[in-house]
Amino acid sequence: MSDQSWKTSITNIGGGEIRVRGYDIAEIMEKLTFAEVVYLILKGELPNDKQKRMMETMLVSSIDHGPTPPSVLAARTVFSGGNPLNTAVAAGVMTIGDSHGGAIEKCAKILQEWSQKEGSPQELAEQLAAEMKEQKQRMPGFGHRIHKRDPRTVKMLEIAERIGYKGRIIELAVAIQDELERTSGRDLPLNVDGAIAAVMSEMGFDWRLGKGFFIISRVPGLIAHVYEEWTRERPMRKLGPLAYEYDGPDNRTIA
Ligand SMILES: CC(C)(COP(=O)(O)OP(=O)(O)OC[C@H]1O[C@@H](n2cnc3c(N)ncnc32)[C@H](O)[C@@H]1OP(=O)(O)O)[C@@H](O)C(=O)NCCC(=O)NCCS
Repeated sequence: MSDQSWKTSITNIGGGEIRVRGYDIAEIMEKLTFAEVVYLILKGELPNDKQKRMMETMLVSSIDHGPTPPSVLAARTVFSGGNPLNTAVAAGVMTIGDSHGGAIEKCAKILQEWSQKEGSPQELAEQLAAEMKEQKQRMPGFGHRIHKRDPRTVKMLEIAERIGYKGRIIELAVAIQDELERTSGRDLPLNVDGAIAAVMSEMGFDWRLGKGFFIISRVPGLIAHVYEEWTRERPMRKLGPLAYEYDGPDNRTIA
């Protein structure tokens, strides 16, 4: 090995063999779900049953939110300009920032740092909300332009509580929501970014993976939108966020 070599601990490949974090890809393909393998590749170890359930919940929660988010508009617009699917999806991913999906990163950083401090979640929430207000900053992971209570957050926290995954960080996130709403007098719900930030932090993931979680969850949705643009729409149509009509299946339940 020369002095120029570098190290990676993710995947080891040799002729006829692929081992992800030490596990044979054939065994992974036989035994693991997608969420379990995402956990494995990001964390380095296999999840237990609770971690697997939370991982599945997080990855499913942000798969799509209709045609108006910046990522979908960008992806459809770039495709409509005559570019291939991969370019259009990449354009959608590039819009992920502090206001859309990317709030997970900053919210997780705050939750991870503040949950280490002395004090009850309520005390910390009061202090944090006051600091953010003084600095005239929005609290990442809170607020929604449509939902008074984000249905994805409600379900994620319900599952976390049911399987015994609710801890100090989730409690802090909920306390921040309550404090922001109390002091501002408006609805500032913990949104799905904030909920993912809280759950991934509770699971011990580094905040630097925050945007990664959103990308992994949202890319299938972006692909569906680009594919629909490709197969239903004309090139360079007049693309506007407000002028759309849903004509998919009626409401239904999973048997
Ligand atoms: C998501 C978001 C853009 C939705 O915004 P919106 O509901 O359309 O609200 P507006 O941008 O019109 O803001 C309305 C007021 O609420 C305040 N507000 C909105 N979100 C806030 C937050 N997270 N923290 C503190 N104040 C917030 C704004 O400062 C504004 O106050 P003002 O009228 O005194 O200026 C906004 O809540 C936000 O920026 N959240 C933080 C980023 C985030 O979590 N993004 C992920 C979304 S899923």
